[in-house]
Amino acid sequence: MNPRVSDLYPTAFVTGASAGLGRAFSAMLLAEGVRVWGTARDPSRLASLAANPAFTAVGLDLADAAAAGSALDHAAVAAGGAFDLVVQNAGYGAFGEFTATDFAVWQAQLEAMLLTTARLSQTALRGMRAKDRGCLVHVASLAVEFPLPFMSGYNMAKAGLSALSESLIFETRGTGVTVIDFRPGDYRTAFNQAMQTTTAAPAADPRLARAWLALESNLEAAPLPVRAAADLRRALRRRRSGVVRSGSFFQARLAPLLARLAPASLVRATTARYFGL
Ligand SMILES: NC(=O)c1ccc[n+]([C@@H]2O[C@H](COP(=O)([O-])OP(=O)(O)OC[C@H]3O[C@@H](n4cnc5c(N)ncnc54)[C@H](OP(=O)(O)O)[C@@H]3O)[C@@H](O)[C@H]2O)c1
Repeated sequence: MNPRVSDLYPTAFVTGASAGLGRAFSAMLLAEGVRVWGTARDPSRLASLAANPAFTAVGLDLADAAAAGSALDHAAVAAGGAFDLVVQNAGYGAFGEFTATDFAVWQAQLEAMLLTTARLSQTALRGMRAKDRGCLVHVASLAVEFPLPFMSGYNMAKAGLSALSESLIFETRGTGVTVIDFRPGDYRTAFNQAMQTTTAAPAADPRLARAWLALESNLEAAPLPVRAAADLRRALRRRRSGVVRSGSFFQARLAPLLARLAPASLVRATTARYFGL
């Protein structure tokens, strides 16, 4: 019989728990008996989860690395020392042409989504290594394999996060700690509504307009976040490090398989067509 997730990981810290995938992950963990500390920049956005006594709302903004580190430290003390499971899920998109966008936008995104996240992972992993038990999950994206158009900062941040996961998978080999590089395809969340649009008038540039339309219609047709939560639950129960792709059959199974067999130039041309470029 499958173990309950709480038998393996009694406590969890989930970033970006107020919406979309993070909210679904938190709800799944609570249903599995896990005590969850979930974060949002504004903790009042966590009210529905906080109705469950096993959930603790935490204020955390990835834009402030030092404060985010303290938020994790305080939560870990309340959880009894170190979290058994940490799901690094918080993130956002920024959409714009690379050269037309102020570099500060890309820099802020890399600092928040890659550097602050890595810093939190270091703290979390230290605690897990000390007790030789735990699981660290980085929510990257299938954008690591199929970069999204006009989202260069996002693509860089997610590729960096996957590279960190791969490094940590090596470093934790043979220990009681596992690391999961969780790569969602499109999921129907408010991700595009929260997206920073960095180019003054994307509609004025037909390439940007077509790419935006493709991003919008892909998300509208995408599965709901409960599917990602079910995939995460399965991965946690397996107790193995590695890459987990999650999403529609086409995006998470077929496309990665075909991309491995086809020449890179063909994959690039097909992806460009998919996004109307
Ligand atoms: N939806 C997809 O199709 C998809 C595909 C691949 C990967 N992903 C990844 O999955 C993760 C969740 O995305 P989602 O689709 O669920 O998006 P979402 O519905 O917009 O939720 C994003 C979550 O991240 C938090 N967040 C955003 N910026 C933050 C910041 N600077 N500091 C702290 N927290 C921040 C938000 O919290 P507050 O705004 O309340 O602070 C919210 O809880 C992201 O890392 C995203 O890149 C999503």
